[in-house]
Amino acid sequence: MKNKVKIAVFASGNGSNFQAIADAVKAGSLDAEIVLVVTDRPNAYVIERARQANIPSFAFIPADYDSKKSYEEMLKGKLESLQVDWIVLAGFMRLIGPALLEAYENRIVNIHPSVLPAFPGKDAIGQTMAARAESAGVTIHFVDAGMDTGNIIVQESFKVNGRSREAVENEIHAIEHKLYPVALQRLFNLNNMH
Ligand code: GRF
Repeated sequence: MKNKVKIAVFASGNGSNFQAIADAVKAGSLDAEIVLVVTDRPNAYVIERARQANIPSFAFIPADYDSKKSYEEMLKGKLESLQVDWIVLAGFMRLIGPALLEAYENRIVNIHPSVLPAFPGKDAIGQTMAARAESAGVTIHFVDAGMDTGNIIVQESFKVNGRSREAVENEIHAIEHKLYPVALQRLFNLNNMH
């Protein structure tokens, strides 16, 4: 039997997607081990969630480093020492640079609250509402050097139908929390077959 897939979750904020993934691991529906939560915001609520779930977390302040390259080299060392297989971005508000992209080629995934390629970047839900888009939704994709441009793994959408921003946001988060653990399990299964 193969070893459990080891993942690091990167998050900058609330961490509800981290929570959904941690809950799925605990429930046994996601066969993986979260070995580290990484945040670029030491006050992020995700740290408290990690503490409650008994998962180690690591907070760093990007401004303490000379460059993206230098903090990514530091992170890479940490992840490699923990034998992390996959990086899972869950509301991490920074672009990933070459140091991590090369070390984790095709092993970094992200979740984005729009049906990409529509509305990449910040405040995708706000962008969706401002554009009076007919549909809203969620995309899970591989991460490349661009802003939300990597190959798409799975998407789910729904009709906005005149709903309020709050209602749309709630629906998006409900989809995210269901979809991310399932998509990760599928991805890890596929990778184990090779
Ligand atoms: C999610 O909507 C995710 O799609 C986006 O950032 C948000 C993070 O929410 N990338 P949370 O911190 O997981 O609650």
